[in-house]
Amino acid sequence: MSDSSESRGAVRVLFVCLGNICRSPTSEGVFRKLLETQQLDFDIEVDSAGTAGYHVGDPPDRRATAAAARRDIDISALRARRTQVYDMETFDYIIAMDRSNYHDLIDLCPHHARGKIRLFMDFADEWDFDEVPDPYFGGDSGFERVLDMIESAAGGLLEEIKGIYGARS
Ligand code: 4NP
Repeated sequence: MSDSSESRGAVRVLFVCLGNICRSPTSEGVFRKLLETQQLDFDIEVDSAGTAGYHVGDPPDRRATAAAARRDIDISALRARRTQVYDMETFDYIIAMDRSNYHDLIDLCPHHARGKIRLFMDFADEWDFDEVPDPYFGGDSGFERVLDMIESAAGGLLEEIKGIYGARS
């Protein structure tokens, strides 16, 4: 416990979509890759989950895995899990892909922790969209577009976290 980041504890980020097989595991992979390229003076822990339990234990959708791999991001080892009330206590940022996820999380979350729940696209200044659309029922191009949106939002999220946590001593 000699390192200051350990004594402060890590910043914990949870990405949430419906099934935890398309958007949120993609977000987890993109954000992890972004963190690898940064020299941060504090720790960030990253996870993802789904508001529904349809795919618990499953790997990401193969289209999501393939789209991420084309950008040199490996999400193949991730497995879907469902969000729990406990997540609302343990994570600092709970990032919803769309409004439906957002409202499901608000319903799950104790009042005191609701401020942690944010819409991911609020961090994507280059996009005039509020939501990362669900690509599950569409074609491959939807997954590319979702990746573009997620990359933009991930950068904005990291800038906010660095602004808040990076300056602390
Ligand atoms: P995700 O996409 O929420 O981005 O993981 C979906 C995955 C599965 C289903 C819906 C959306 N489904 O209905 O099974």
